Amino acid sequence: MAENAELNLPDGQTIVLPVITGTENEKAIDISRLRAETGHITLDPGYGNTGSCASAITFLDGENGILRYRGIPIEQLCAGSSFVEVAYLVIYGKLPTQTELDKFSADLNKHALIHEDMKTFFSSFSTQAHPMAILSAMVASLSAYYTEASVEQEAENLDLNAVRLISKIRTLAAFSYKKSMGQPFIYPNDAFSYCGNFLRMMFGVPAEEYELNQDIVDALNLLLILHAEHEQNCSTATVRTVGSSHANIYASVAAGILALWGPLHGGANQQVIEMLELIRAEGGDVDKFIAKAKDPNSGFRLMGFGHRVYKNFDPRATVIKAACDRVLETLGIDDPVLEIAKKMEEHALSDEYFVKRKLYPNVDFYSGIIYRAIGIPVNMFTVMFAVGRLPGWIAQWKEMMDDPTHRITRPRQVYTGDNATDFVPIAER
Ligand code: ACO
Repeated sequence: MAENAELNLPDGQTIVLPVITGTENEKAIDISRLRAETGHITLDPGYGNTGSCASAITFLDGENGILRYRGIPIEQLCAGSSFVEVAYLVIYGKLPTQTELDKFSADLNKHALIHEDMKTFFSSFSTQAHPMAILSAMVASLSAYYTEASVEQEAENLDLNAVRLISKIRTLAAFSYKKSMGQPFIYPNDAFSYCGNFLRMMFGVPAEEYELNQDIVDALNLLLILHAEHEQNCSTATVRTVGSSHANIYASVAAGILALWGPLHGGANQQVIEMLELIRAEGGDVDKFIAKAKDPNSGFRLMGFGHRVYKNFDPRATVIKAACDRVLETLGIDDPVLEIAKKMEEHALSDEYFVKRKLYPNVDFYSGIIYRAIGIPVNMFTVMFAVGRLPGWIAQWKEMMDDPTHRITRPRQVYTGDNATDFVPIAER
């Protein structure tokens, strides 16, 4: 039976609003007729209570720490899948058959190269440039090469543009690292898996055969799976917003990369390691930093703590924390920062400030420790997050474009400025 909510307004108007129920029984009040019928809008800074779309991609229950892609729990995907398989699942809504997976992988191999001219772009950036600035510029530049990314043709070419993006982003990421190191670019090689190919392009050199370490490949796969999709977060909402104006998919994804860069979002993974290193350099006193984070005047936050949606635990952080011990032990790495991180988590979780505000370690808290263990430099951490999140951005963009009822994103506002006032010529002011 259809459910409704009733809203009584101060001016005496009453409106009946439909209540929408999701497949996991989440409830939403449909206010799409509110302004037309009553002249009122809703106000929700930061959109903490606003559903911007209906989506069948990811289910997230922040109170119970549940995350599922297309219905499948993240823990099962981490235990038994690969990043490429998860990318297919997220974009196409079902697990691929072996034939479909083979074709998808072959397509990724086929599109791994970037246009040779694009290599020269890397030389134009300052050597100080952050790799996220380079990555976003390079992804936006792809739209200059692939004209079928125009909106008219885009929907039918989605498969092609999806594999191009997923494959080339890894080449672009590795090339930007090689450039920063002053080393020659290493071209992709079809004999390697998606993650293996990336590691070879990052760390291989022309003079030697690159020897792949399967433990490192597995660790990278795990992190990319955990990053693959996370419903309407800041960067994904950005991709949808930009795409809603019918900007092409490369432009939309480039905007998402820039949103991800912010330290309150994906950029936190770099900040976490920098914070933990600072604590180490200052003698390992985690309580001093916890006290600083609790001081509202310090402007300092514990990076890697807190989440808009998770108010119990972040299931991705649980998987990564367990993987940290395993990966470091397998690789024979003793990282003192891991102990500091664990101590900080323990102390914060028994502190009333963090308990009361439901602040737990998020995905970024432990991920940098693994990235560093597998050789990824700190300023590339957020780039790795972008490589992982790409299937989610593509899936959300596709879902929006496939929805015939989608409209351009255009929130309203409550104006609080001056009332109508006359222009005064400069000589009279
Ligand atoms: N350290 C200290 N206090 C914090 C932290 C933190 N990391 N996070 C939130 N708080 C406090 C706030 O000061 C606020 O306290 P108050 O009620 O006394 O004013 C309260 O907790 C609620 O915080 P908000 O900022 O309102 O929460 P919001 O949902 O808007 O922000 C966010 C979520 C941005 C993730 C925040 O927790 C934060 O800044 N964390 C650190 C950065 C980080 O790790 N970002 C990565 C998130 S995961 C991702 O995007 C991939």
